[in-house]
Amino acid sequence: MNEPITYYAPASVGNLSVGFDLLGLALEPLDGSHFGDRVTVGVAKPGDQSPQLSFHGQYASALPSDPVENVVTRCLDLYRAELGMPACPELSIKLTKSLPIGSGLGSSASSIVAALAAINQWFDNPVDADGLLDLMSKAECGVSGEKHFDNIAPSYFGGLVLCESLDEPPQFLFWPDAWQIIVAYRNTEVKTKDARNVLPNSYPRSVLVSQAASLARFVHGLGSGDLELAARNIVDLVAEPYREQLLPDYSQAKHHALQHGALAAGISGSGPTMFAVVDHAEKAKELADWLGHHYARDGFVKLCTVDRIGARQLTGVNREVH
Ligand code: HSE
Repeated sequence: MNEPITYYAPASVGNLSVGFDLLGLALEPLDGSHFGDRVTVGVAKPGDQSPQLSFHGQYASALPSDPVENVVTRCLDLYRAELGMPACPELSIKLTKSLPIGSGLGSSASSIVAALAAINQWFDNPVDADGLLDLMSKAECGVSGEKHFDNIAPSYFGGLVLCESLDEPPQFLFWPDAWQIIVAYRNTEVKTKDARNVLPNSYPRSVLVSQAASLARFVHGLGSGDLELAARNIVDLVAEPYREQLLPDYSQAKHHALQHGALAAGISGSGPTMFAVVDHAEKAKELADWLGHHYARDGFVKLCTVDRIGARQLTGVNREVH
């Protein structure tokens, strides 16, 4: 009774170049480690002050010091408003921040998804999956200035997910077992809002047609088993041409990746992380090593596959609040 509840939500690549704001991939490191934030909900210690939010983990120090500004507080406020609940001074919420902020790895989405899933579980799940996704998108909007589902949907559901609004159910696309994805994080912050501000408000018709064709070919290639077609169409005419200027060394690193075995490469989310898709284990290791030295430098590189589970409750030692 009143045992703390911990949720983990994986990092994600969204956009995956070809589906701006609508396509995202949940990540699972090949070494079996966790790669995402955790949120634990429990009962506050007597005498604690509200809001009883605490930050832990490698990147906790980069969070706003005022808990009121934290996205987890926003999640709780949205959740309470949705259910017409009063304040919850009895709750303790612990955020373990394992993803760097402004990284392009769906860091805010990971916190949001873990927080709302844990809070909902704590109250015996009165909000269904659609309702929770709606709340997650509102919390994400508070961070980036606009609603987009390409990080929260894969982080919540797992997989390679096409989700652009709540008007249609999420579509789960096939991710080939042979495809590994390298993510190379460079230790600089790119705020999603800033990276969205460099994008034009409108695009030439020819760009819209080409990008639509690429997305259709990508989906068709995955569905029909024509993986070369799919990989060839992981291209970005919407964001990359404008965001490259924010990412020193990105163009050279992408060029190197494509010359050395990557099937595709692009900006993960709004950067600075870049990704490369490789279908050959040895080449993937070599490229990961190169990206570590030449792009990530003081950041990190992870060799990943798809996380097919998404947000999940952790048990055992992870359930402790403090
Ligand atoms: N789709 C969003 C963007 C993701 O590219 O702006 C931000 O992480």
